[in-house]
Amino acid sequence: MPIMRAAFASRFDDADPLAALTVGDQPEPSLPDDDWVSLRVTASSLNHHDLWSLRGVGLRADQLPMILGCDAVGIDPDGNEVVVYPVVPTPGDPRGMSILSEHFPGTLAERVAVPRWNLLPLPAGLAATDAACLPTAWLTAWRMLTTKGRVAEAEAVLVQGAGGGVATAAVALAAAMGKRVYATSRDAAKRERIAGLGATAVEPGARLPERVDVVIETVGAATFDHSLKSAAAGARIVVSGATAGHEPKVNLRRVFAMQLEILGTSMGTPADLADLLAFCAERDVRPVVDSVVPFSRVEEAFARLHSGDVFGKVVVDHTA
Ligand SMILES: NC(=O)c1ccc[n+]([C@@H]2O[C@H](COP(=O)([O-])OP(=O)(O)OC[C@H]3O[C@@H](n4cnc5c(N)ncnc54)[C@H](OP(=O)(O)O)[C@@H]3O)[C@@H](O)[C@H]2O)c1
Repeated sequence: MPIMRAAFASRFDDADPLAALTVGDQPEPSLPDDDWVSLRVTASSLNHHDLWSLRGVGLRADQLPMILGCDAVGIDPDGNEVVVYPVVPTPGDPRGMSILSEHFPGTLAERVAVPRWNLLPLPAGLAATDAACLPTAWLTAWRMLTTKGRVAEAEAVLVQGAGGGVATAAVALAAAMGKRVYATSRDAAKRERIAGLGATAVEPGARLPERVDVVIETVGAATFDHSLKSAAAGARIVVSGATAGHEPKVNLRRVFAMQLEILGTSMGTPADLADLLAFCAERDVRPVVDSVVPFSRVEEAFARLHSGDVFGKVVVDHTA
């Protein structure tokens, strides 16, 4: 079987996920059936999901080694440059599907295998390193705002933990949609940069000048009470992650008295990704990129994400 370079989880380490990362040779991915194709990856990006995987969240020991990475842009067998939709049908999984790197090998490698229907054309004018940010974090933010948050009916949006990949996406998208955007971040330098994206940046927990109609929550326990307090009557609090703990204390009186909707969401549909790609191309919206690291130094990309000191997406260039 042909061999390729890949970044993979060789074991789990909850305390020190970087210690569980190996960069080395792995077999090229096999094609489960005729509907799958193998792509040459040209760009990928990291997500918090990759750190969860190294910690052992969502993976079993008998699945190791598992190639990491959910996001990719690549060249298909016909030579077309394509964006990969990362959710694949997965018989045996209770959800009936999984994200690349959960059951099937991920994108942080020379090649990745996916069903043909998971490929979308790379829009003209969008660089591969930008498009590689969109399929997970940006898709999640897009669905949080549109389908779940019904942002079209909203005037003001709050984004918690605004330095993260999903959160910077939500700020940039909501601002491009013409909404008033508030964003919290623990870090003064990040607050300054968030303001540059069109948001009013505040410290976590700070009282906002108005209540908001949509809250974008990926932080969890550390910010949830502030999300509840900042929500206007009938607001949607949309949750897609809980980086700082998934068991917040919830004031239910506020939930029913203010008629709040707390909505969970995960990723988005292929149609959502097509809409997001078109929105970015047409409105000239580009992902917030923290750094672009060549694949030969992919360990540095992981260290950067793990440091928590990121602003936007950490991208991996597989052509450098
Ligand atoms: N369900 C889905 O489909 C889906 C998709 C993508 C991501 N996610 C989840 O969403 C979460 C964010 O993902 P990501 O890739 O955007 O992660 P990320 O880039 O690592 O960002 C995480 C952000 O959370 C904030 N944060 C972390 N710990 C905090 C704390 N103790 N108090 C306050 N803020 C804290 C930080 O913001 P500041 O430094 O600015 O305060 C940080 O930048 C993860 O839990 C991930 O698993 C879910």
